[in-house]
Amino acid sequence: MFEQVSVGREVYGEGTNLLLCGSVMNLPKEIERLKGKVQCVYLDPPFMTGERFERTRPYGEKGWKKGTPVARLAAYEDRYTAEREYRKLLRKLIHTAHDLLSGTGVFYLHLDWRMTAQARALCDQEFGKDLFLNEIIWGYESGGRSKKFFPRKHDSILMYAKTRKYRFDITRVPLDRQAKRKNHMARGIDEQGRAYSSIVSNGKEYRYYDDTPVYPGDVWTDISHLQQRDPERTGYATQKPLKLLDRLLRPVTEPGDWVVDLCCGSGTTLEAAQKLGCRFAGMDVNPEAVAVALARLAAEDLTVICPEGKTKAPLLTEEDPAGRFRILGVETEHPGFPKNTAPLDSLESWEYGTIEEGVFRPLRSFRRSWKYPELVNSLKLNPAEITAVMTTDAAGIRRLYRRKA
Ligand SMILES: C[S@@+](CC[C@H](N)C(=O)[O-])C[C@H]1O[C@@H](n2cnc3c(N)ncnc32)[C@H](O)[C@@H]1O
Repeated sequence: MFEQVSVGREVYGEGTNLLLCGSVMNLPKEIERLKGKVQCVYLDPPFMTGERFERTRPYGEKGWKKGTPVARLAAYEDRYTAEREYRKLLRKLIHTAHDLLSGTGVFYLHLDWRMTAQARALCDQEFGKDLFLNEIIWGYESGGRSKKFFPRKHDSILMYAKTRKYRFDITRVPLDRQAKRKNHMARGIDEQGRAYSSIVSNGKEYRYYDDTPVYPGDVWTDISHLQQRDPERTGYATQKPLKLLDRLLRPVTEPGDWVVDLCCGSGTTLEAAQKLGCRFAGMDVNPEAVAVALARLAAEDLTVICPEGKTKAPLLTEEDPAGRFRILGVETEHPGFPKNTAPLDSLESWEYGTIEEGVFRPLRSFRRSWKYPELVNSLKLNPAEITAVMTTDAAGIRRLYRRKA
């Protein structure tokens, strides 16, 4: 009934926002076109950890209901044989970020103790030392604790402006003063009934009123890493919390601005940008990252440019011309799943739509989630109306099928 095809381009609505599969070393023209137009570039590249990261993912109705079984899948490799090779990537990322930014734009580069010093020197060269704004310290408690030295419990986020006219409004990220309240401060209520904390220094009393806003400094310890069963968690290794990206993007962007992430992984930056009403472009060299990111975005106005999986896997359907279309799954084998996995269980989402002039245009999408572990797979409509189907399996492999003439 259906034959597997590859078009590599999918458009939702107007297709304004972008999600691309590709390497920053070979910048696609769709990103080139944004040069000079971007308000914020955030980059969270590999940290040169020497690790091979995995992604764990529940699959099938049972997996999504109970958290198991899970598939163990390769995510991405952070293995650079020489620092020279890594520096090449870093230099290209920093140079591209600089090119993309508009005059009011701001750049964030997220790294850890391994490469922050080298990155700072490269950014100083590209942006100029005087346009360095902050080294934000994101402190956390998760992970192991070394006894050989003080445990390394922070990442560094370097922040640079493209020009002196950069946009930054700290009043857009007020903190909860109650949460920030320091225990060592005295508490009091003034003549007008306003509550405050106070401290006396050099004989002078400093008062901090509960009802006046307080803003973050450059050391952030109030945003934790994602927990194991966090609903935000996609299973993609090194996924950053949305709250972190919201705090970074909010003071420097306004609705309609372009936000770009060239190593977008699971798409945290893109989701944060979308929630703030910004336009966004994300890319990653790993096609699975694109599938994961796509799953968390409201795909209403989006172009996805990513080659579909080439491995042959027949689409199994059941059709009743009287008005019922049923998808039974995709017959596939993947090292991440046991051999006897049912075709429907390995399926995470599917869409039907049309293929016109080399573009797949989805009409309706169906996806498993914690809330809806069952995948809708049976529709009451004339099967002939379904001319093209895109499937994504739990390993993140997307396949496109066209109805045979
Ligand atoms: C630390 S992860 C990003 C995580 C992401 N911020 C999130 O919240 O999920 C780094 C990403 O960089 C991607 N990457 C590595 N080399 C790349 C390259 N040359 N071009 C584009 N992406 C690359 C990896 O595939 C990986 O997904």
